[in-house]
Parts: sequence; structure tokens; C-alpha cells
Amino acid sequence: MTTVATKPALPPLEHALEDGWTLPASWYSDPAVLALERERIFASAWTYAAPAEWVAESGSYVAAQVGHVPIVVVRDRDGELRGFVNVCRHRGHLVVAGKGCRETLQCPYHAWTYDLDGTLRRAPRSEREPGFDATAFSLHPISVGTWGPFVFANPDPEAEPLADTLGELPEIVASSGLDVDALRFHSHHEWPIASNWKVAIENYLECYHCPAAHPGFSKVIDVGPDAYGLAVHATFSSQIGPVRASALAGDGQSPYTPRGEVTQAQYHFLFPATTVNIAPGFPNVSLERWIPDGTHRTIEVTDYYFAPDIPAAELEELMAWDSQVAEEDVSLVESVQRGLDSGAVPQGRLMMESERLIADFQRRVRDALVGS
Ligand code: FES
Ligand SMILES: [Fe+2]
Repeated sequence: MTTVATKPALPPLEHALEDGWTLPASWYSDPAVLALERERIFASAWTYAAPAEWVAESGSYVAAQVGHVPIVVVRDRDGELRGFVNVCRHRGHLVVAGKGCRETLQCPYHAWTYDLDGTLRRAPRSEREPGFDATAFSLHPISVGTWGPFVFANPDPEAEPLADTLGELPEIVASSGLDVDALRFHSHHEWPIASNWKVAIENYLECYHCPAAHPGFSKVIDVGPDAYGLAVHATFSSQIGPVRASALAGDGQSPYTPRGEVTQAQYHFLFPATTVNIAPGFPNVSLERWIPDGTHRTIEVTDYYFAPDIPAAELEELMAWDSQVAEEDVSLVESVQRGLDSGAVPQGRLMMESERLIADFQRRVRDALVGS
């Protein structure tokens, strides 16, 4: 047994992750852990933010949240995509909500008005304040970038380019038979989950639970250990699942028949909180960001993209299949959170083959919070 030293603020790791142990149960409920995660993980992470088509026109904007940071992505008058922390420099009201198209960004509280480049253009009664310097109160800039029809954001204005973080992910996605540039945004969904964000991510990262917990999914995708591929890459990890021949044949047993050129399921996880899901069948992808909303609440935000002209019945069949899996997953992770909160099992034990993507995730979290 190896003991890993931690900074005093955090509960200790009694058993080392390298020996197959999980993060301590207390790390899934301790506010000090969440505070460190915000500072050391989310404050400088690239996260999927919105469909690019929402910010295609000059003056268009969309508000979103990445990690704990409210952001706004804007297409400025010169056509440049920009991003800002969506928090008013006056007293902190969120500057804009939702999405739309405007000449300026105006905070609804006291009407401080910002230009599309983030500079403060007007603050009512500021002429009565000797020495008030509007140039000192621009919205804080963030980094933004696009991959095909997807906008990503990083609260760190000095972040490395998005393409460096994505690495070979776009090529792996293309290898599924999918051309992301041919997709159109379809719909936006938000699922609140009563668990710590790490419980939700860890559930995403293994299909060891699929035979027992997702019977409908497992009728379509071969989730056996010799068929279902797991791979750890430099900045992301991937699960690739082949389609069962019985589902392709339309055997009447599977809840979804994958008709179309996408021949495999792909589930990618970009650390810390973005997932990219491709189902087999017609061209489709869903991107998700997982928002930690307190120690015991996570918002799963899902945007579906489909090829144009897919018949509505086929879209509904895929989304129903997907929603069934999501509902089953919510039940699983909320149960795990209750178990972790009991403190009865201070550290769990991973199956290091089938759950090696979780091991990689937990190492990244540990290294970010306390060093390796
Ligand atoms: S908080 Fe925005 S104008 Fe006052
Ligand atoms: Fe699941």
C-alpha cells in the first residue's frame, strides 16, 4: 500500500489511485474540494459552450455557463468571435441572458452598457463621479474557439488554442463516418442530477455497468470487454462500441435500428467536463457539458446535432433510445452519491481494465488538486 501526501486542506488519500483505489468518498461532498476544483481545473479548462450557428451574425450573442463561470460569446462588428465573463463590472448582475442579436450588451440592473468588444460604453450618472474611468471596467475577456459547428470557451484569456487541446479528436470523430460540418443544431436539453459532477463523469467513462443497467442500449451496442474499445489520449479519452449485427438486421428486439453511414458508437470525454457522443446510424452527434452546481448537483447540458432532412420518426427513435439511457444513468449516479455520502466505504476499488478511463480521470483530478 502506498500513501499519497496531500495538502492539509483536503481529506487524505489513504490508498493510492495507482493501486486501483478510487478517490476518497469525501472528495465528492467536501466544499473545499469543489473550491479547489474551480480554481485549479475549471478556471482554465476548454469546455463546449454553444452551437456556432447561434453566433453567426454580427451582434449575435449567447450566454452560457462553463464550470462555475457565466460567460457570453459574441460575434463582434468585425465578424470576430469573442468571449467575456458575463458578470457586470458594476455589482455583479449577469449582463445578458439567453441568446439574441444586439448592438451592445446592456446589464438590466442599472443599465451599464458594454460594446461588443467588452468595453464599457456607458454607465448612467458616471459623469457625476469625479475620476470615474470607464476604460477600467471592461468585461473580463475569456478564450473562445470553434471546431466545426461547435463553440468552445475557456475562462482563461491566455489559454492555449482549442485545436491543441482537441488534438486528434476531430480525426477520430471523422473516422466514425461523420462529417460534423454537415450537421445542424437540433435541440438543447438540460438535466439536473443530484450528484457531484465527478460521479456523473465517472459513470460516463465506463460501460462495465451497461449489461446490468442499460439492457436497451446493450441490445444495440456490443458492450462486451473484447468488443468495446477504451483508449486514453493526451487530453481526452474514448470509448468505441461496435453495432450488434442483430440490431443492424432490424431483429425487432432492439429499441433502435441504426440505419445509415455511421457504423459505430463513439463516446469521447474531453477533460474536465465535455462529452461528445455519436450514435450509429444516420449522421448525428450530441455534445454535452457537465456543470458542477454545488457539491451535490450537476447540470448535464446536451445539444443534439443531426444531418438535415432526417425523417422526424428516425430522430425520435434515436432520442428516445438515448433518453432511456440517460434516465437510467441519473438513477445510478444519484444512488452512488447517497452511498458515498454515507462514508461507509471511504475508498472504492476500480476494475482497472474495464474502468481504466475512470482511473485516468481520477489521476487528472488528483494531480490538478494536490500534484502527482
Ligand atoms: S450590476 Fe450591472 S449595471 Fe449594476
Ligand atoms: Fe450509463
